[in-house]
Amino acid sequence: MIQIVKDTRPWFFLQTTHSTYGMRVMETGHLEHLYYGERITVDTQDPSSCAPLVIQRAFAPGNTCIYTKEQPQISMEDVCLEVGTCGKGDIREPFLEVCFTDGSVTSDFTFVSFEVLTLKDRDERMQASGLPHSYSEEESSSAKCLHIILQDATNRLELQLFYTVYEDCDVITRSACLLNRSDTFVTIERCMSAQLDLTEDYSEVTHFSGAWAREMHREQITLSSGKFVNSSYTGTSSNRANPFVILSPENTCETSGSCISCNLIYSGNHYEALEKDSYGKFRFVAGINPRSFSWQLAPGEAFYTPEAVLNFSADGSRGLSGQLHSFIREHIVRGVWKHKPRPVLLNSWEACYFKIDEKKLLQLAKAGKDAGIELFVMDDGWFLGRNNDTSSLGDWEPDPKKLPGGIASLSKKIKELGMDFGIWVEPEMISENSNLYKGHPDWAMKIPGHPHSEGRNQCILDLCNPEVRKYVIEEMTRVFSSGEIRYVKWDMNRNFSDIYSPYLPAAKQGETAHRYVLGLYQIMEELTTRFPKILFEGCSAGGNRFDLGILCYFPQIWASDNTDALCRTGIQNSYSYGYPLSVFTAHVSSCPNHQTLRITPLETRFQVASFGILGYECNLKDLSGSDLNAIREQIAFYKKWRDVFQFGSFYRGAENEASDSETLSWTCVSPDGRRAVGLFFRRLTVPNQSHDWYRPVGLLPDVKYHFYGRNIKYNLKDFGDLVNTVSPIHIKQGSALQEILSRFVNMDGEKEDLTAYGDTLMRAGIALKPAFAGTGYNSDTRLFPDFSSRIYFMEAVE
Ligand code: GLA
Repeated sequence: MIQIVKDTRPWFFLQTTHSTYGMRVMETGHLEHLYYGERITVDTQDPSSCAPLVIQRAFAPGNTCIYTKEQPQISMEDVCLEVGTCGKGDIREPFLEVCFTDGSVTSDFTFVSFEVLTLKDRDERMQASGLPHSYSEEESSSAKCLHIILQDATNRLELQLFYTVYEDCDVITRSACLLNRSDTFVTIERCMSAQLDLTEDYSEVTHFSGAWAREMHREQITLSSGKFVNSSYTGTSSNRANPFVILSPENTCETSGSCISCNLIYSGNHYEALEKDSYGKFRFVAGINPRSFSWQLAPGEAFYTPEAVLNFSADGSRGLSGQLHSFIREHIVRGVWKHKPRPVLLNSWEACYFKIDEKKLLQLAKAGKDAGIELFVMDDGWFLGRNNDTSSLGDWEPDPKKLPGGIASLSKKIKELGMDFGIWVEPEMISENSNLYKGHPDWAMKIPGHPHSEGRNQCILDLCNPEVRKYVIEEMTRVFSSGEIRYVKWDMNRNFSDIYSPYLPAAKQGETAHRYVLGLYQIMEELTTRFPKILFEGCSAGGNRFDLGILCYFPQIWASDNTDALCRTGIQNSYSYGYPLSVFTAHVSSCPNHQTLRITPLETRFQVASFGILGYECNLKDLSGSDLNAIREQIAFYKKWRDVFQFGSFYRGAENEASDSETLSWTCVSPDGRRAVGLFFRRLTVPNQSHDWYRPVGLLPDVKYHFYGRNIKYNLKDFGDLVNTVSPIHIKQGSALQEILSRFVNMDGEKEDLTAYGDTLMRAGIALKPAFAGTGYNSDTRLFPDFSSRIYFMEAVE
């Protein structure tokens, strides 16, 4: 709901179910930020009831610039603003920085007008932006947009601010549009999406840093002075710094306290800065990274910024995540796959890498089918001459040596096996060693006449060039139509270097990185419209472009090339702060793991991957019969609980928050609260300490649940030569006798089986069967060596 308090000058209040965002037009005409926090009551008929929100001023602070002689008490450096600019005394991180033809950089925006828009009207105004936006499906949506117009009268610039309110998810989004109403061009040096000037102590920043195979490392810093910046300069949103950040006071934790998060609906270079000013206030800005960015705005032209998603929770990060999960599912992800269960897939990459051919793929697919796989994905290596990563990107023709019947024949055969077929592509790239490059060397992003650097032996296509975009759209249309393709993994494997568009004139080179992203969005928009039924999965060397921009087109993203179960507990736990389980994919792979060489139990690999969109990525043909049987059971079990995993409410256990916690727990609860599935995981086993508790979250307190575990069998080999303490004959480890016996001797794992009220389960936790602690074993013992986990079920008892 948007509430307007009419006074000499208007006050604006954006109300969600649990939060309020307040601002007003101040006496100077600037838009003053008043409040962002827990919901407050606003009496639109009584402006005096809003008075406590206004910072009162008698004199401006010493050694600051006074805005005008008429109002000597106002220094812009000490005002909470919605839009900070340069040159009028505000020396903090600006929202906007514009350079005029006379070389000056001072701008000043004051209020002109406002209107409340439906989302349809908002979208019409933003149509020319070329950027993806949040949306609402319901016709009579409660979501509304407050559209405020500011102007810089001297420079004849107009700044439009869009505030969209999603009451149901406690989300407010912000974006801006700068219009040049003058008759000379101006250069935008920065134009942010959101600014928040906070008077409360929001000194803690939680951010997610990383690298390839190390995505989403959750870190927290306390800003006591100066600035903290979370940004990317890779050309993508990057695995180095995800655009999602959380601000909070120091005492906020997983289960309580205030927090504000911000994420950008953007897939390129981004910038989030928190600054503590000289008066103890915090300024936060988020938007396109100003580094190497500039944009020439001709008379009459408009520049649009990406939408920033703001969320406030008074219930700690768990509350924040719940709201964001609903928001992303309802207002970001779209298309036929929005609410549709995602298939369990088998991907050929870690099974075969580049060494693929039709025969090999069919054998792998057949093994997948036997295990219950629903979708078979042919990864990299299928097109002309692509035997390693040094060539062929751009030549999207099946290699006849590998696929003699092309994609049509292979996809048909996969379909006959009873599975859907999917394919890997990397459309934004060009190898120098390719036919495409021979024909169009000027389509690669590099500086003519200069030596250039490469990543993974490849160049990036210049998506600023409309001809290149057309080529990508038509080529991909041809590929996606060349067989029965139901799924596409869209990869992007390198960072930008030698940033330069051979298509753009010199004066516009500062626009290259952003124009690339706009070009990409145009391509994605067109292809997802042409192929609405295809399930698209985003990928960028794993999670190098994991953001809300991609999720507006593709409903899921490959979270990381790292499939190690231990690493994945951290990576997936961190993604869950800002993204629902239904948007990140997770695969069970072979052991030793290909990224870490770590050995983890197959059961743990499966259980951890189930808390994501489950897939497999290993050579099933090489697995033992017992592993294949286990996988068959895993997939059958997953299908039964898939709706809860993929579309239930997800909760992190409170213990996950401590970075040195040895245990971790997750719970997914069905929308009606009557079915839940949980995971309990331990990193390293501790001798002589056998008690563990699993504490579910999100159950209905007054409903009785049947709590039970999966039937597990222990294998003789799990005990090594310890079996000799009870075995009548000596069993040597690694011997044929051990191998034979292990095929027949299976011991029942511990059984958990109890019924209790939701409140008991959640508040007291479930004291689990004791873990093996070195002093004895029987069927009531939970074998829990390093990296072990258990999945538990909770079903309401009628
Ligand atoms: C990237 C992806 C992998 C795989 C390879 C293929 O690294 O993240 O999953 O598709 O490319 O080259």
